[in-house]
Amino acid sequence: MSIMIVYPNGKTHRWVEALHAVDPALKVEVWPEISDPGKVSFALCWNQPPGVLRQFPNLKCISSLGAGVEHLLGDATRPASVPLTRLVDDDLKQFMAEYVMLGILEHLRRFEDYRRQQKLGKWARMQSRRISTMGVGLMGFGEIGRYVGYKLWDFGFKVHAWTRTPKQTDHLRVYSGIGEFDEFLKHADILVCLLPLTPETQNILNAKTFSRLPANAYLINVGRGSHLVEDDLLAALDSGRLSGALLDVFREEPLPQHHPFWRHGKITITPHVASVTNPESVCTQIVENYRRALAGMPLLNPVNAERGY
Ligand code: NAP
Ligand code: GLV
Repeated sequence: MSIMIVYPNGKTHRWVEALHAVDPALKVEVWPEISDPGKVSFALCWNQPPGVLRQFPNLKCISSLGAGVEHLLGDATRPASVPLTRLVDDDLKQFMAEYVMLGILEHLRRFEDYRRQQKLGKWARMQSRRISTMGVGLMGFGEIGRYVGYKLWDFGFKVHAWTRTPKQTDHLRVYSGIGEFDEFLKHADILVCLLPLTPETQNILNAKTFSRLPANAYLINVGRGSHLVEDDLLAALDSGRLSGALLDVFREEPLPQHHPFWRHGKITITPHVASVTNPESVCTQIVENYRRALAGMPLLNPVNAERGY
């Protein structure tokens, strides 16, 4: 019985070490160096090449190496009867909250503009809005979105969220479903996408969505690149409909060198680092799921394949 890591170009040695720190007796193998495919019971995957997973006839669980699972659900060659799990983790939530908070504050306090001024040796004060007047709209209020939302609320922002299913919460108004989407958008001076990528959410950051936002709204996309219609963003920025965008995720990663986002003055780019899984933080839940899978017990953080996340 073994755990297999499928993570092309990833720092797999860190994962092997972190799994062994939890249980030194575990047999951990890194694809493609697998001694006996019939003995692999558990696969840990990120960007697995199509066709790999079906080579292992005795898998009992397939786990994402992150929160998102579209790479697993979109793999038509994956054995569909094997249950899927994903990671839910305090570090992932905290990193994301730091990133989103920083992105919003940099924009509000005009750091981009001050950096431009600094290059020119220019001393000129600019106005910034008070955060108590700023509406933040969170698309997605799941494990990560809830944590981010309450941190922002705690800091003084007017936070609203949007989900698939209705929710009652303290302090924040949660809108749900497509029927309440436009109303939700009206309050989003800052729109933060923290949705999973599903057929329903693909391309959701589009011209129509941008047209419903308050004037000069700012976009932060930390969900997935395919949430965003890229040409619609460029048009909204160039027309002044949106004041700027902070993008961490892209349709093609790494973002190709010729891509217009690189050189756009209103776009800030980070290379999918908003919240990167820390192996040391998640390996306890992974080993627990490995044991549960072997024992036929209910798994932690299961993915609902029909729902798409
Ligand atoms: P989660 O716990 O599954 O939460 C997903 C949220 O999205 C839920 O609130 C869900 O609504 C909502 N949602 C799903 N489909 C929807 C739809 N059609 N309409 C409206 N709302 C919808 O996921 P999570 O752990 O918070 O992670 C969210 C995503 O963040 C991941 O899937 C990944 O894409 C992204 N992420 C990015 C990074 C990065 O570094 N950039 C790092 C980690 C995660 P309900 O509450 O009604 O189910
Ligand atoms: C990162 O993007 C993740 O889904 O964990």
